[in-house]
Amino acid sequence: MSESLIIEGKGEGKPPLQGTVNISGSKNATLPLMAASLLTDAPVQLIDVPDLLDVRIMKKIIINLGARINYQEGNLYLDSSTVNSYSASYRLVTRMRASFLILGPLLARFGKARISMPGGCAIGQRPVDLHWKGLATMGTEFTLGNGYLEASCRQLIGNRIYLDYPSVGATENIMMAATQAQGTTVIENAALEPEIVDLANLLISMGAKVSGAGTPTVKIQGVDKLHGTSHKVIPDRIEAGTYMIAAAMAGKGVKINNILLDHLKPLTAKLGEAGVAVLETSPGEVKILPPESPQRIKAVNVKTMPYPGFPTDLQPQFSTLLTLAEGVSLITETVFENRFRHAEAISRLGADMKIEGNNLVVRGKPRLRGSRVKATDLRGAAALVLAGLAAEGKTEVQDIYHLDRGYEAVDLKLSGLGAKITRQRQTVLPEAPTGKNQNM
Ligand code: UD1
Repeated sequence: MSESLIIEGKGEGKPPLQGTVNISGSKNATLPLMAASLLTDAPVQLIDVPDLLDVRIMKKIIINLGARINYQEGNLYLDSSTVNSYSASYRLVTRMRASFLILGPLLARFGKARISMPGGCAIGQRPVDLHWKGLATMGTEFTLGNGYLEASCRQLIGNRIYLDYPSVGATENIMMAATQAQGTTVIENAALEPEIVDLANLLISMGAKVSGAGTPTVKIQGVDKLHGTSHKVIPDRIEAGTYMIAAAMAGKGVKINNILLDHLKPLTAKLGEAGVAVLETSPGEVKILPPESPQRIKAVNVKTMPYPGFPTDLQPQFSTLLTLAEGVSLITETVFENRFRHAEAISRLGADMKIEGNNLVVRGKPRLRGSRVKATDLRGAAALVLAGLAAEGKTEVQDIYHLDRGYEAVDLKLSGLGAKITRQRQTVLPEAPTGKNQNM
């Protein structure tokens, strides 16, 4: 049974969000780190792992391969010495695109892998062509049948790989595969995201020879074997950014803890342009100061780009902030198409958002009004919660499982800031879905 979040937004005499919220370990760092544990038969410990639906799906996929996993209070212990299967099930892989990240590690360690195509996409088309092209350059042979990709190689051979696009997942998959390849692999036009650097740090601590992570050229010199390690996951920059925007929309001096502001430069700059001050109060802690009432947020233009550009994963939340701005904002999405699916639901709260191709035109209004809306994807769900917090009256956000994929204890964290937010079973049948699930 699906669940809803009921949010009592702003109203007469309602206090703004206040206090301190603690950011969890990064989901998008954790998933490849978990996949990397398959590279060794020794135990790997990950510290600060968030308790999220996506992490649980990845756990299931790795357990189904024969590994043993134990999770206790943010510590994840992975033991892949007992892995005896190279096949990842359709049922799990189609629920989460990041499950494709087990391909590189399985090839590196066992020379074979069988994995369902995420979302049933045909080979040669998005979204995994860059992964398999890179691995093919290293000597992997692929066959496709019944929606499964079969990959095998006698020995991965290091090579020079140019990525047509700096894909995060493809960079990670190729980096992991290359750790035990023969010779050196050089990835050109690699993704620069902090999660790539975190993965490189884990691999290095397992004995891999990786250099250049965080730059467009990543070099991996193959070694014979990797060993176990213990590694602390970086803080979740997207969760942190989401709370920064919540604090800008409905808060007064909210503090955010366990945040790496260095990973959030584009959001900090855009918030500043919009009139929201982001103060670093101490290392790892920031305070968010929205404009003093009756001043309003200012309209700004935003274009999503690969890191260090403005993250597509914060675009739905940031465009929701701009629904309350003074003036007209233009949001341009260049990373994923079909990423304005929150716009329709936010408009039900009274926002003026108009989609024009890969642009979203947002005409700011003084207020939003609560309504019943349905989440359609992870970051869109976060945007709906933010809108609900800032709206007058009650908002019900349905199908909250999208949110639970990527936000740890979101209702508890927001309640801790004074929000009136409760989780309840979804009693009303949702309306017909507006599009297919977009796994981010
Ligand atoms: C990761 C993040 C996701 C984020 C995205 C972009 C994880 C688990 N997920 O996803 O939250 O939104 O980065 O910052 O880390 N593409 C291809 N061919 C490929 C691979 C990608 O055309 O083989 C395209 C995609 O369709 C998209 C763009 O490249 O248009 C970026 O995708 P990519 O960087 O690979 O994102 P993910 O790793 O899937």
